[in-house]
Amino acid sequence: MAELVTYARQGTVGVIAIDNPPVNALGAGVRKGLVDCLDKGNEDPEAKALVLIGGGRTFPAGADITEFGKPPASPTLPEVIAAYEDSAKPVLAALHGTALGGGLEVALGCDWRCASKDAKLGLPEVKLGILPGAGGTQRLPRLIGAENALTVIVGGEFVAAPEALEWGLIDEIVSGDLPAGAIAFAERIVAEERPRRRVRDMEVSAAPELFEGFRRTVAKRQRGFIAPLRCIESVENATRLPFDEGLAAERAMFVELVASPQAEALRYLFFAEREVAKVPGIDKDTPLRRIASVGIVGAGTMGGGIAMNFANAGIPVTLVEAVEEALDRGFSAILGNYSANVDKGRLTQKEADDHTGRLTGSVNFDDLAKADLVIEAVFEDMALKKEIFAKLDAVCRPGAILATNTSTLDIDEIAAATSRPQDVIGTHFFSPANVMKLLEIVRGDKTADDVLASVMRLCRVISKVGVVVGVCDGFVGNRMLHAYWDQAYSLILEGALPQQVDKALYDWGWAMGPFAVMDLAGTDVSWRVRQAKAERRDRNKPYPAAVADRLCGKGRFGRKTGAGWYRYEEASRAPLPDPAVEALILEASAEMGIARREIADEEIVERSLYALVNEGARILAEGVAARAGDIDVIYHYGYGFPRYRGGPMFCADEIGLEKVLAGIRAFEERQPGLWTPAPLIVRLAGEGKGFRDP
Ligand SMILES: NC(=O)c1ccc[n+]([C@@H]2O[C@H](COP(=O)([O-])OP(=O)(O)OC[C@H]3O[C@@H](n4cnc5c(N)ncnc54)[C@H](O)[C@@H]3O)[C@@H](O)[C@H]2O)c1
Repeated sequence: MAELVTYARQGTVGVIAIDNPPVNALGAGVRKGLVDCLDKGNEDPEAKALVLIGGGRTFPAGADITEFGKPPASPTLPEVIAAYEDSAKPVLAALHGTALGGGLEVALGCDWRCASKDAKLGLPEVKLGILPGAGGTQRLPRLIGAENALTVIVGGEFVAAPEALEWGLIDEIVSGDLPAGAIAFAERIVAEERPRRRVRDMEVSAAPELFEGFRRTVAKRQRGFIAPLRCIESVENATRLPFDEGLAAERAMFVELVASPQAEALRYLFFAEREVAKVPGIDKDTPLRRIASVGIVGAGTMGGGIAMNFANAGIPVTLVEAVEEALDRGFSAILGNYSANVDKGRLTQKEADDHTGRLTGSVNFDDLAKADLVIEAVFEDMALKKEIFAKLDAVCRPGAILATNTSTLDIDEIAAATSRPQDVIGTHFFSPANVMKLLEIVRGDKTADDVLASVMRLCRVISKVGVVVGVCDGFVGNRMLHAYWDQAYSLILEGALPQQVDKALYDWGWAMGPFAVMDLAGTDVSWRVRQAKAERRDRNKPYPAAVADRLCGKGRFGRKTGAGWYRYEEASRAPLPDPAVEALILEASAEMGIARREIADEEIVERSLYALVNEGARILAEGVAARAGDIDVIYHYGYGFPRYRGGPMFCADEIGLEKVLAGIRAFEERQPGLWTPAPLIVRLAGEGKGFRDP
């Protein structure tokens, strides 16, 4: 087997090179090699200084994540770093690619750091629910100050080389060949007889307000996450404890976090997100169709937002509306959105101009003739969608991908309106489409593999997380959402109020409670769906949406009408509990003969979760979602399910399906007709298995 780390000398400089593709992860073998090669360098009489460098495309991009949760083999990363810090000869780390996590921590154990100009540095551990556990929280603030260190460690974002140079995180940017530049730098260190520079010996101080400020920001932006708070605590330790004590405290927090349920959930979701890119039955070498121009039919709420995604990614878009007036309305909404982003400092005027410059409007379908991909986003009406697809079939070039943004309709029926159903696919964006990361990609019966693969690839171009789902009413996300909303509706009939339900779920970690979401999206949207399905409804089953119907009957469509489940004061988005809604709810409970009772928050959380899980299990069994992880990714990115809880299916596995089944059965007794345990849960619980090992 090739050596994972090698030592070679060039003139007076010893070069320690790591060769562990693809990202030079710091697994046990690399760690041992690093220490062995350091010894070789220190023993080499010709070497005056040492350079540590990564082979291939990057300096180590982190620890070996597959080793998480296992007892670390010796030498551990902190031992490796201590060895470099105690090296008899000066060490220069030469960074390129992505020097992340443990990789950057190793570099912090060296005397100097240089980097290629496009290198990215960072300590992203917080995103996996942990903190940098090999001295990162103690060394980084000593090197670049507490505030910059907090930004890097608590935010977990990358730092580009120029900024790293400004902060003193690196000492030099090498613009040409990195190994040659690093060796030249090391030779200068020797020639100039520069004194050794151990980061651990540096001092850092900061005012307590700095840390309080970061804690307040975390409470707002990373609500419920434990790791960011530990990161702050640990950086604060660097300002008030001797190095070794701070290091020991960091280690203790790392050990606690690594084994925490949050870290487990975050690791799970990290892998689930990678898995979604692998679509069962689709070869990764499937040839892709070119998507260099896009057409969009319908410039309403969704069409406009969808168009922005492509314009932002540098792809020209033609927006087609039925009439000029609608087109103007659509364009002014898009322009308004861009100018708001400029005002908020999120975009420069030049960027906004470039993006809008890629948008063209038309009321003529012929202008879609050359588009590589057309996305239809007109009203949710089957007859209209079929008419549009027939027109697209007539004008679009052969091989163009024809997509629909429908949220409920049967893609196969829409595809059948064309002579090329193999080119038809569903692209279900979430509102606001220029912001929400999720894209449900609906695979029709006849959708060609290369169409699916091309749309999956496109997700990367427009920075979306694409999850492939099958055709059914509501696909994965909205189908589960209806089961979840039915519980919200039932809970208020039984004794809770919207504000209690919302608060219980918000406190549990959801971005918003269900009633606040309905007010935001417009309560009329699901009302129309219920009306459309009213005739087919099974009258023998309970109908929990009764209050929702009455609310809509009064024109309370949510924020847009100033009232929905809550009331809204002029110019404020804050939902305020409304006695009129409470009266409506009490009246409905009384009419339905329901004796209202106190409902504990735990019951609200449990019923909401189990409703999602039970429907999710059916979706899995039907093959509408390929994996439990796909469902969880959908719930996080599309519905604000707390990331640190993994996802509904992950939660169910953690609770244990036997217990989940017992809970569902107990609810079934109380609410017959609303609950029937999904056969998959019954089977898996019986076999002592979970959704992740079916
Ligand atoms: N709003 C959401 O939250 C949301 C989320 C996901 C999916 N969807 C789906 O997206 C689609 C569009 O929804 P929306 O909320 O943007 O609706 P919208 O009413 O805001 O926009 C629809 C647009 O289509 C245009 N249109 C109608 N007939 C047309 C025709 N013959 N030719 C060209 N344009 C025509 C209308 O003028 C209007 O601008 C629907 O299928 C909906 O189910 C909506």
